[in-house]
Order: sequence, then C-alpha cells, then structure tokens
Amino acid sequence: MASSVSCIPHVRSRRLPGAIPALLTCGLVGLLSAACEDAEHALDPEARPATAEVEGRAVAEGRHIFRYDDFGDWRFWTDTLRLNELVEGVTPNQALELGLKVDGEAIPPEVLDAVLSTPGALDDPATTRALLSLNAVLGIAAIVDGDRITQLGITCALCHSTVDNSVAPGIGARLDGWPNQDLAVGTIISLAPGLPPELQPVYASWPPGFYDARFNLDGINDPTVIPPAYGLRGVGLETYTGEGPVSYWNAYVAVTQMHGKGSFADPRLGVSIRVPPREDLVRSKLPALRQYQFSLAAPEPPAGSFDPVAAARGERLFDGEARCASCHTGPRFTNGNLHDPEETDMDPTHAERSTTKRYRATPLRALWQHAPYFHDGSAETLADVVDHYDSALGLGLSADQQVDLVAYLSSL
Ligand code: HEC
Ligand code: HEC
Repeated sequence: MASSVSCIPHVRSRRLPGAIPALLTCGLVGLLSAACEDAEHALDPEARPATAEVEGRAVAEGRHIFRYDDFGDWRFWTDTLRLNELVEGVTPNQALELGLKVDGEAIPPEVLDAVLSTPGALDDPATTRALLSLNAVLGIAAIVDGDRITQLGITCALCHSTVDNSVAPGIGARLDGWPNQDLAVGTIISLAPGLPPELQPVYASWPPGFYDARFNLDGINDPTVIPPAYGLRGVGLETYTGEGPVSYWNAYVAVTQMHGKGSFADPRLGVSIRVPPREDLVRSKLPALRQYQFSLAAPEPPAGSFDPVAAARGERLFDGEARCASCHTGPRFTNGNLHDPEETDMDPTHAERSTTKRYRATPLRALWQHAPYFHDGSAETLADVVDHYDSALGLGLSADQQVDLVAYLSSL
C-alpha cells in the first residue's frame, strides 16, 4: 500500500477523551482504550476478509481512500469552518439524528455492548469522541486529544455510504456507494461556527439527502439529491448533467467541495485551483479511487419486493410503447447522451448551471434503494416517475400499464 494511504492517516494521537464522565463506567473507558490500540488493525482493509467483489490492491487502496482519506481537507473543515468545535459537544444521539452513521464493525463487540448498555452513553459527547478515535463515524476523519478534537476532515463516505442498521438504527455494517439519504449535510454546515452568518440560511434550507455541489462556486441555491456511487462501471459520463468521466468528477469534488489539497482546473467553469504537484494529495489517488467505485455493484432488489409477472409486462412496455429504452438503453440503461430539459420536461435550473446545459439519461440501477428520483427529487416514488413521463411524453398509459412499468423499474 502506498505510504500516502497509511492506516488511519489522521489519528496521530491514540489518547482517548480523558473526561468521560463518571456515569460511564471504568469498564467502558478501559474497553474503549483497548479498542483504540486495536484500531489500526481493524481499519486496515488488508486485515479484513476480502469479499469476491473487493479484490486486488488498487481496489483495497481505493476503498481505504473512499472511507478514510480527507485529502488534507481538514484545513477547511477545521481552520475555516471550525466544525471540530461543534462536534466536540455533539452526542452520539444528536449525530445519529443529523443522519451521521456509525460503523459497528470498527468497534470491538464488547465495547459496542458497553456503549449500548451503559445508561447515558449515547447522550455523552465523550462517546462521540471515542467513536471518532476509532474511525467509526462514516465520512469523518478526526484527531481526538482528550476532550478536544484538534483536527476534523470529511471523506467521500460521508455522502456516499450508509450502514445496514444491523446493530441499531444508524449503526451497523458499512454499505459503500449507497447514498446517505438522511444525512443533513446542509444543516451540519449551517451549524459550523466558522460559517459566515449570511450563508447560514442557505445551508440550513437543504433537506436531508440533498447537497449542492456548485453553490460555493456560482452562489445559486438549488441542491440535488445525493446520488448512489455504485453501479457506475461502464457508464461514461458522471453526474446528473454528464460533466465528465468518474475521475474528472472525483477530482472536482475532492478539490472544490471537500476542499482537499489538490489541483483542479476547468476553463468551462472558470475554476483554476493549483497546488505544487508534490503537495497534491488528490491526484495520485484518483486511479485507485476509480477502481474501487467501479467495484461497487448496485444492490439487488430484496426477494419478494416486486411482482415478477407484472415486471415482465413492464419490461415490454419499457422497450416498446412507453419509449423508455430510446434513452435508457444497453446494460447500464443509459445511452450516454445528454438531453435538453424540455425533452423530458425537467426543471432546467440545474442544467443551466452546468457545463453541458443538459441532463444525462440516468443509468437506472437499484431504483428500489434510492428514492426520491430525478436530480431534484421531484418524483417521490417510482409511480410518480411513470406519471411524470406519461404526461411529459404524452404516452397515455392505462393505470394497469403504469403499475407494470413500476414493477419493472422496481426490479432493476
Ligand atoms: C457533501 C456530499 C458529497 C461528498 C462528500 C461527495 N459527494 Fe459525490 N456527489 C454528491 C452530489 C450532490 C452529487 C451530484 C452532483 C451533480 O450531479 O451535480 C455527487 C455525484 C457523485 C458521482 C456521480 C454519480 C453519478 O450518478 O454519475 C460520483 C461518482 C461521486 N459523487 C463520487 C464521489 C467521490 C469519489 C467523493 C470523494 C472524493 C465524493 N463523491 C464526495 C455529494 C457528495
Ligand atoms: C428523451 C430521453 C428519455 C426518455 C425517453 C426517458 N428518460 Fe428517463 N431519464 C432521462 C433523463 C435525461 C433523466 C435525468 C433527469 C433528471 O435527473 O432530472 C432520466 C431519469 C430517469 C429516472 C430517474 C433515475 C434516478 O436515479 O433518479 C428514472 C427512474 C427514469 N428516467 C425512468 C424512465 C422511464 C420509466 C421512461 C419511460 C417511461 C423514461 N425514463 C424515458 C431521459 C429519458
């Protein structure tokens, strides 16, 4: 593994919050300390059993980057936004309420049991700091020193992963690539002490599961649904507006949104951020990061979640009368083309802010998993999607046909 991707890159100090209050038993403190000694081992992707789809050095390295690497963006989230000061006082229950997720597998079982069974542990900010020391809060890379968080950055996993809730709501095994649909990322930013007050109402207005990846550049407040990062192998153009291939977008996000230390320039956007090559903490990681993203398959629909007979009828409609396959074509259900907003009666605002001015035919994958749909979440359900197209394309589908089409979409 490259030295730039060392294990727990941001946990310099293994010291745990010293001020865990008396109501937490010594047993819990002891367990947490022991757990931190083990943290390096637990976080090393090589130390965990590889699954069939997570193979190869680049994939393992990419997974580590995706989950734990903040690309040096802590300078922004700590020095500028001072989010660390906010998080120092946040309890686990408050963090879960904001949609943050906890990796149950990063916490040794006996520690997890102690945290869950000790009264008040989830209402104590000291527990949050202990979880951060274990690198167990998805998408947050922090250095904890006693009751202080001296450094806090964010990783790709913040928005593009969640957990299976196998331990408790918000606590469980990681599901990388799944959008975190209840992450109140706008609210979190709005509460950061270092945010200029005039920007607070904008960030506070973003619903959970939404983020605006352009607001800090063009000043327009128009957030989009956080999309999945799985099922992208073979998809040429990323993002709702088809900005470019996956590494273009990864670099864009890492540098302009996460504020990682790296270079990104696109004359179409009038953006030119440059750091000396030897200080670039993004560029060398892009190939492995891409490999990892491409290894993330879209999750299959749960057994029994759709009617297969109706879905088979729906597939014929999709390919025929309903004309869906004219744009959602091929194994990834995307023709690789961009479409004017009017073609499918979409709100043009987001397209107008982009470099392409049009929307990419979204690759349809695991639709059962990530409602709401369309870039702006304007369709709450798949029935709303079909209803939208029925009027936008003047299809005149019967109620039964619409049900069949929904069954097919639920099967993808
Ligand atoms: C703060 C939340 C947030 C973070 C952090 C974030 N993303 Fe995203 N990501 C988004 C949003 C929102 C979009 C949709 C942007 C658009 O289309 O305008 C997106 C889009 C994407 C897409 C395109 C998906 C598609 O359907 O084509 C990929 C791939 C992606 N992100 C990967 C990453 C990677 C890799 C990182 C870390 C370097 C990252 N993201 C960090 C919010 C985030
Ligand atoms: C003219 C091309 C075109 C046709 C025809 C078309 N689509 Fe789309 N589809 C798009 C575009 C472009 C988007 C992205 C729109 C957006 O995000 O606002 C999209 C998005 C979607 C989405 C949202 C996916 C997501 O993850 O949010 C679904 C579902 C979908 N289409 C299903 C269908 C169905 C069903 C039909 C047939 C009734 C159909 N499409 C016909 C171009 C098309």
